[in-house]
Amino acid sequence: MRHSAYIFDAYGTLFDVHAAVRRHAADIGPEGQLLSEIWRAKQLEYSWVRTLMGAYVDFWQLTEQALDFAFLKVPSADPAMRSKLLDAYWRLDCYPEVPAVLRGLKDNGARLAILSNGSPAMLEAAVRSAGLDLIVDEIFSVDSVRRFKTDQSVYDLVASSWRLYPDAISFQSSNRWDIAGATRFGCRTVWINRSGQPDEYKDLPPALILPSLEGLLVHG
Ligand code: LAC
Repeated sequence: MRHSAYIFDAYGTLFDVHAAVRRHAADIGPEGQLLSEIWRAKQLEYSWVRTLMGAYVDFWQLTEQALDFAFLKVPSADPAMRSKLLDAYWRLDCYPEVPAVLRGLKDNGARLAILSNGSPAMLEAAVRSAGLDLIVDEIFSVDSVRRFKTDQSVYDLVASSWRLYPDAISFQSSNRWDIAGATRFGCRTVWINRSGQPDEYKDLPPALILPSLEGLLVHG
């Protein structure tokens, strides 16, 4: 194995953010996917806007505000589902390959951590509910720097805390913009392109592109 530390983005990479709406698809109606996409897009937009202007509020509050906006944009979805959808966010499904891949990397001697925009409480709940709490060595939340990704201080959390040069860290994310941020910081990056998206941020390319985390055990 070429890297001793493997750092994972949480939402979209380990945990399926669309699982919350999917779980309640029957009650939400035909525009569930649209609701879920707006919810996610706004959650991220709020994180970037707030970091740019230095007005941090934690990711849980952004998740609530983004869902409220999504309900206004998609009137066919019943806002009475709000609390059920928010509850589901605390125990999202992890992607099927996640437990075995993380365990395999750990058995090979790697240290594993999550580096996420999520608040510490959200991340701890999701990790526990997916049964990953005994595999992941540490959870790094942006909450300790009060800035969201792609602020470079976020990626520095791991390098400083574990006393590693950035290029000793392999960073995995399904979010291409997050890969751009970690590449800029100097990490070795692996883009988990789960949904076959076209490439972006060409000046900040990943070292490796995989369709799921599975290839990580083979390609390092
Ligand atoms: C995270 C966001 C990018 O987990 O989904 O940090």
